[in-house]
Amino acid sequence: MVFPNMQLKWTLLLLGLFLVSSESCEKGFEGKNGGCVDADECVTVPRVCGDNARCFNTHGSYYCNCNEGFQADKHNFTQETAQCLDINECLKGIYECPGNTECVNTIGSYNCTCPEGYKPSRLDTDCEDEDECLSSVCGVHSSCFNTAGSFHCNCSPGFVKRENSTCADINECTVQHVCGTNAQCQNEEGSYRCVCNQGYSNYGNNQSKCIEMSCDHFKAESDTESASVKLNHLLALLRSSCESLRNANVSRKTGEQLLENVFNSTDELLTEGTIADGETLNQFLDAVENSMRLIGPQLKEPVTRMETHNTVAEVAVMRNQTPPSGRVTLSTDSALFNTSWEIVVGKSYPGFAFAALVSYKDLTSSSDLLHTISRERPDDEERGVSYQLNSKVVTAVVSNAETKQLSEPVMLVFTHEEERAESEGMAYSCVYWDADERVWSGRGCKKAESNSTHTACSCSHLSSFAVLMALYPLQDTFELVLITRVGLVLSLVCLFLCILTFKFCRSIQGTRTSIHLHLSISLFIADLVFLCGISSTHNQVGCGIVAGVLHFFFLSVFCWMLLEGLQLYRMVVMVFNTTLKHLYMYLVGYGAPLVIVIISAITFPAGYGTKRHCWLSLDRYFILSFFAPVCIVVILNGFVFIITIWKLVKHFSSLNPDLSSLKQIRNFTVTAVAQLCILGGTWIFGFFLFQEKGTEVMLYLFIILNSLQGALIFIMHCLLSKPVRTEYYNLFVRMCPHKKKAEHSTSSSQKPLRSDGSTAESQI
Ligand SMILES: *[C@@H]1O[C@H](CO)[C@@H](O)[C@H](O)[C@H]1NC(C)=O
Ligand SMILES: *[C@@H]1O[C@H](CO)[C@@H](O)[C@H](O)[C@H]1NC(C)=O
Ligand SMILES: *[C@@H]1O[C@H](CO)[C@@H](O)[C@H](O)[C@H]1NC(C)=O
Ligand SMILES: *[C@@H]1O[C@H](CO)[C@@H](O)[C@H](O)[C@H]1NC(C)=O
Ligand SMILES: *[C@@H]1O[C@H](CO)[C@@H](O)[C@H](O)[C@H]1NC(C)=O
Ligand SMILES: *[C@@H]1O[C@H](CO)[C@@H](O)[C@H](O)[C@H]1NC(C)=O
Ligand SMILES: *[C@@H]1O[C@H](CO)[C@@H](O)[C@H](O)[C@H]1NC(C)=O
Ligand SMILES: *[C@@H]1O[C@H](CO)[C@@H](O)[C@H](O)[C@H]1NC(C)=O
Repeated sequence: MVFPNMQLKWTLLLLGLFLVSSESCEKGFEGKNGGCVDADECVTVPRVCGDNARCFNTHGSYYCNCNEGFQADKHNFTQETAQCLDINECLKGIYECPGNTECVNTIGSYNCTCPEGYKPSRLDTDCEDEDECLSSVCGVHSSCFNTAGSFHCNCSPGFVKRENSTCADINECTVQHVCGTNAQCQNEEGSYRCVCNQGYSNYGNNQSKCIEMSCDHFKAESDTESASVKLNHLLALLRSSCESLRNANVSRKTGEQLLENVFNSTDELLTEGTIADGETLNQFLDAVENSMRLIGPQLKEPVTRMETHNTVAEVAVMRNQTPPSGRVTLSTDSALFNTSWEIVVGKSYPGFAFAALVSYKDLTSSSDLLHTISRERPDDEERGVSYQLNSKVVTAVVSNAETKQLSEPVMLVFTHEEERAESEGMAYSCVYWDADERVWSGRGCKKAESNSTHTACSCSHLSSFAVLMALYPLQDTFELVLITRVGLVLSLVCLFLCILTFKFCRSIQGTRTSIHLHLSISLFIADLVFLCGISSTHNQVGCGIVAGVLHFFFLSVFCWMLLEGLQLYRMVVMVFNTTLKHLYMYLVGYGAPLVIVIISAITFPAGYGTKRHCWLSLDRYFILSFFAPVCIVVILNGFVFIITIWKLVKHFSSLNPDLSSLKQIRNFTVTAVAQLCILGGTWIFGFFLFQEKGTEVMLYLFIILNSLQGALIFIMHCLLSKPVRTEYYNLFVRMCPHKKKAEHSTSSSQKPLRSDGSTAESQI
């Protein structure tokens, strides 16, 4: 019985021991070998610090340290529940990712990565936009637009996006009147085409409405004489391209080619100089305007500029669905055209609009064409205003067909050909070519501004324009007219007496007297015609004849003066007192002028008669046909005159040594002046008129001396000549016998006074 009790007792003891020992070790310790030792929780307790921390054992305890990138959860922190949580560096802003990179948090760390749509750039750590459009991501009929980090696809015009984001063609033809009523609409992939009915055209602008089109204005007018071959050629060219536009299925030239063709044609026309009359100019300008209407809408580029040898053009074209607005400015080197698109378009807009400015470098501004303005200004014609263009001629064309009266004026700025400011004697005006009247007209055009280099015009209609320079002549003053008239009348009377004297005075007959006679006759007729006919400009033919007659007789006067000089030279230098053959004298005195006048009249008949005077025109240096012979005569006679004076000086000093020097000087002077006025010396003053300054005095001297030339000849060669005076006296005595005594005594008392001078003079 003891044994079982003993066994139970040990068992109880051991159990008691165990119980005692386990109760006795504190927390963090463990019983070992009967005692309590520190327990290494980092080993004994699994995952005591969690995944993200390191465990450190201490005596009786332990602690946890979070790994880098982790943080202890403070709120919840107890030894038992300690946890290290990931730090979101991206949120905390601990580190800024550079450039386009994006911060991505990772467990325990972070990374700077490229966001979607970006790719790492090769050079640095930054990211760059990836152009997704490089790989065709959008499919057909759409265009890809790359954006920063992304892209989007837009359907091409004429296509629409479907639900599965592919693009489908729009059938534009389902929209009513898209092509207007004069065409068939044809849908095309992404587009549509208006196929015009016969006789209509949209000028190759497939999406524009068709407008009625006629090619009749390109019909060559073969029946009119003025239409030149070249112009007809141009018209034929335009007509064929017009016809090809009307027939939709005919292949045709592009607008650019056509423009070049047309300008090559106009170049030929202009260089030929065929445009001399209003009719041809009209046709030409009309053809250019119509060709621009034909070609303008066919040009592809928004602005086309074309320059050929003689023509410069700039054309602006708009093809928006809605009418364009804003201003349009076209310029060539010689003009600027400024208007608004509203004016260009006008009332109806077919789907295109264009404006064109064409300038012609060498449109012959024939004087005939310029004179046509005078009809509008009757006063100017009377005042003898002359006109000249001082700009290139330009044509402004717009697609609006109603350009006769624009709702708002257009602006044209011209560059002057000749730099010249307006002055008292000159005014600019803006003119246009009036196709109906065939004249340059100023109606509807205002000069807005003008300086020496430019004139700005504001016009309320469109056509071809230019800047006209009106040159106002210096008005003949009343005094000048009076002096001329009185002088001429006096001259005529004196010349009449001269003619009688030289013809009938027997004692002085000889070569010199016949030269004097013909000189007087020529001068008499010239003066008479001048007095009566110089201003008869109202009759063009009559005026031309007057000018021709004046030309002839004044030249004749100079030819006789030349003969005077020749005869004087023979007498003084060669000491011949021989006679010149009358036939030769007539050949020089009347034949030479006749030849000059005939040649002049054949080469340039229009040169006879001007708007102002019935005299030679200044055009084409025509006046030289008078001034050149005059110069030659005056120079030759000047030479003769100098020799004569020299001989006279010698003569007077040798002939009469006892004569008082005062008388010598007087006789010498009388003779010299007598020779001077018979040799044409008064015309020397005429040459001073060509100088710019000081012409006023010279003009008066010239006019007085020349209108009095007849009187001077009479005084010097009749009154102061002794034989002539004697004859006058005899004649006078015969007519009035009862006064014989008294007159004779006075006359004879003067005789000795003059005798020596008279002999001297009559000898030379
Ligand atoms: C706190 O600890 C408990 C138990 O471990 C856990 O369920 C809770 O989510 C913790 N709270 C926070 C804020 O982390
Ligand atoms: C972090 O970026 C580096 C290169 O910058 C890369 O090699 C690594 O894989 C990235 N890590 C993660 C987690 O994206
Ligand atoms: C998109 O839808 C149209 C019909 O709406 C279909 O014909 C076409 O095949 C589809 N395209 C794709 C790529 O699914
Ligand atoms: C008009 O359509 C025809 C034929 O489709 C084409 O050849 C031509 O280039 C088109 N013209 C324009 C201006 O789009
Ligand atoms: C143009 O087409 C019409 C009808 O489509 C045809 O009658 C005509 O002969 C064609 N013209 C040319 C030059 O092909
Ligand atoms: C127009 O003339 C120029 C030179 O004068 C020439 O080079 C060009 O080929 C001509 N163009 C046409 C279409 O005849
Ligand atoms: C065109 O005219 C408008 C209005 O008259 C003006 O404002 C503009 O400056 C002009 N343009 C040129 C280039 O002269
Ligand atoms: C003349 O006027 C034009 C335009 O009106 C201007 O461009 C130019 O500078 C002016 N010239 C002078 C010298 O004033």
